Amino acid sequence: MAVTVIVGTQWGDEGKGKITDLLARDMDMVVRYQGGNNAGHTVVIKNETFKLHLIPSGIFYANVLCVIGNGVVVDPAVLIQEIETLKSKGHPVDNLRISSQAHVILPYHKDLDKAQEKKKEAGRIGTTCRGIGPCYVDKYNRRGIRIADLYDQKDLRAKLEWNLEEKSFLLEKFYGMKVSSNVETILNEYLGYAHAIKGFVVEESSSVVHDAIQKKKKLLLEGAQGTMLDVDHGTYPYVTSSNPVSSGACVGAGFSPMAVDEIIGVVKAYVTRVGGGPFPTEIEGGVGDQLRDWGNEYGATTGRPRRCGWFDGVVMKHAAKINGLTSLAITKLDVLDNLDKIKLCVAYEYKGKQVTDFPTDIRRLEKCKPVYEEVPGWKEPISKVKDYKDLPQNAKKYLDKLAELANAKISLISVGAERGQIIRI
Ligand code: GDP
Ligand code: IMO
Ligand code: MG
Repeated sequence: MAVTVIVGTQWGDEGKGKITDLLARDMDMVVRYQGGNNAGHTVVIKNETFKLHLIPSGIFYANVLCVIGNGVVVDPAVLIQEIETLKSKGHPVDNLRISSQAHVILPYHKDLDKAQEKKKEAGRIGTTCRGIGPCYVDKYNRRGIRIADLYDQKDLRAKLEWNLEEKSFLLEKFYGMKVSSNVETILNEYLGYAHAIKGFVVEESSSVVHDAIQKKKKLLLEGAQGTMLDVDHGTYPYVTSSNPVSSGACVGAGFSPMAVDEIIGVVKAYVTRVGGGPFPTEIEGGVGDQLRDWGNEYGATTGRPRRCGWFDGVVMKHAAKINGLTSLAITKLDVLDNLDKIKLCVAYEYKGKQVTDFPTDIRRLEKCKPVYEEVPGWKEPISKVKDYKDLPQNAKKYLDKLAELANAKISLISVGAERGQIIRI
């Protein structure tokens, strides 16, 4: 298991932070490969809860090098805050590295994100308003500012001037809003950030990753968001602006697909989604509210209530296909403890026929109705179970169903938020 990718298989918040922290113990390196502080990865160690937005979830092991890869977009203020919080809780971050190629989120990215979300005509995505989309737009439009640019003041000023001219035009003339900062304030602020994070920045992060692979070190690639939020393979346009899927790890950290040994799909035992967009198995009210309550389904980044629904086998099959999952980490199985009956979506009905290939065009998806199977619940608490054989029969049957729909084996079962609440198979 030299190179392992951890990927969300649904709409994010599957418990990637917990699984990454768990596996990081046996790793040499953990790399975040895409997204930014739209992510909120929760790690619970004994009574302490950490919500990580940018720093890889392997940070709690001093001997594990944690790299923010080139594919990540970094809001330096958030990063510094995160570093300070960890330090204040007794976790030094000497093992943190930041790619000089990672792109920087600037105030005008957040302005634009908010402006777009306000403008009804543009169709609201329900973003986290953290400037993620506009920052990636600048990256792909080759207008972006990378971490390395923060250390070249003359160049930085020129790039900021150009960008601000363009963004103010757009914000003022099209969105009827104002940019929140000018060149001087941004320069002042960001040169300060640059100074504060300088010690963590590595010039060639892909060389750091590559060297580790050459030396047969153990690497974990930590994905943010999830397959259904992938800009290519998710429910476009209700997606994020990066590629959370497993192949995104190669681009976002800088290594060959040939190096990947394992791809672990993190799968919540039911499904949640935060923000707008289609969600075929959503349960409005009733059991949906109960799942939100029992699973404490509120966004780790924005605090928004998460929409909840039944497990979706069509989504699972899609995620297994796109990611090439070698095994599954099932999370939050304990949240289903109290249900008499549990539904699973095994197919969609589309124009009178059953389909099991996920329709990535949302116009087709909107016409799909989930086809459910119902299985009996186990009606007993499982959060203390450590061994697979001690799980209730009905829980095992439910897990078998999930594995069958994914056509992949289960390697981990999480039965609580705490690091130790795990069953290894
Ligand atoms: P991520 O974004 O994929 O890392 O997931 P989040 O951290 O946003 O959301 C997962 C939530 O579920 C967090 O509050 C975790 O502490 C919690 N959690 C993770 N695994 C389990 C589990 O097996 N059972 C329960 N009850 N909670 C869990
Ligand atoms: P983790 O890594 C769940 C959602 C937003 C919105 C859409 C686009 O914690 O699983 P963006 O700000 O990225 O432009 O918003 O994506 N979203 C997430 N939902 N978990 C996340 O991250 C998410 N990151 C973004 O709610 O619907
Ligand atoms: Mg999250």
